[in-house]
Amino acid sequence: MFGLCVHVVVMLAMGIEVVIQAQAQPRAGNFHDDFQVTWSADKVRVMDGGQRLQLSLDRSSGSGFKSKKDYLFSNIDMQIKLVPGDSAGTVTAYYLSSQTTFHDELDFEFLGNETGQPYIVQTNVFANGVGGREQRIYLWFDPTADFHTYTIFWTPKLIVFLVDGTPIRVFKKTPGQPYLDKQPMAVYSSIWNGDEWATRGGLVKTNWAHAPFVTSYRNFQVKPAPIPPRIDYSKLSWAKGIALSPSQARLPPGPRCTIARCLWLPSPCSHLPFLRNAPLQASNHRETQKKK
Ligand SMILES: *[C@@H]1O[C@H](CO)[C@@H](O)[C@H](O)[C@H]1NC(C)=O
Repeated sequence: MFGLCVHVVVMLAMGIEVVIQAQAQPRAGNFHDDFQVTWSADKVRVMDGGQRLQLSLDRSSGSGFKSKKDYLFSNIDMQIKLVPGDSAGTVTAYYLSSQTTFHDELDFEFLGNETGQPYIVQTNVFANGVGGREQRIYLWFDPTADFHTYTIFWTPKLIVFLVDGTPIRVFKKTPGQPYLDKQPMAVYSSIWNGDEWATRGGLVKTNWAHAPFVTSYRNFQVKPAPIPPRIDYSKLSWAKGIALSPSQARLPPGPRCTIARCLWLPSPCSHLPFLRNAPLQASNHRETQKKK
């Protein structure tokens, strides 16, 4: 509230800087300060003095960046505007990952599509090197028309993936199951060619005549995890009057899901009326398909 900003910086033996933010005032990130290019600097464009960034993909390669810091439990936001128009075959990955042999990872993967066809948002959770927990949904808006906020809310007991403040997936700590509570993770994003599997299971290939494919980023923020993000119900589709499918329209309008509610409900947030699950085939479990 008063700009009180207590950063506890722990230097691990390996020299990794881990930041635990106790009472941090949310701060819009600056890409120069917070990130480094990991792949194809010539395709990473930092704009507006570091307030915005674009990654692009063309036939020669994709591109990517990573945070300079590692985090252990956080509430991490990024606003992303996905590749507009024909994005078939492209994959934009936005994720947290540790750099260890038995790594932890929390993924948002945006699978492109032909012009006018819906993107798929695939989430995945790796705990101690084991993934295979892909879930897929279609979004309730066009993610290429504007920036939307994609959040990973990560606490010692609960992980929530949110889109514009709406939880789309909950992963809870369960007795006897591996959980992500020991390994600090960095924030990564990249865009790459996934046309072997991404769009309609690999049927639709990347059309290089439409390259470069560009994803845009802004407003990176790291907040302390124990404070649930404020949910802005005005942003929900029904509030905006965006056309809903007949099954969605039949459901009573109004907020249905909050972080507090997700604590009690099964994972995923299957009670969210406007979420449509996208098909997930066996071939979609691409644990070895590593983004750069
Ligand atoms: C692309 O559009 C097709 C047709 O609407 C749909 O079946 C598919 O799930 C969409 N998304 C992807 C990534 O294939």
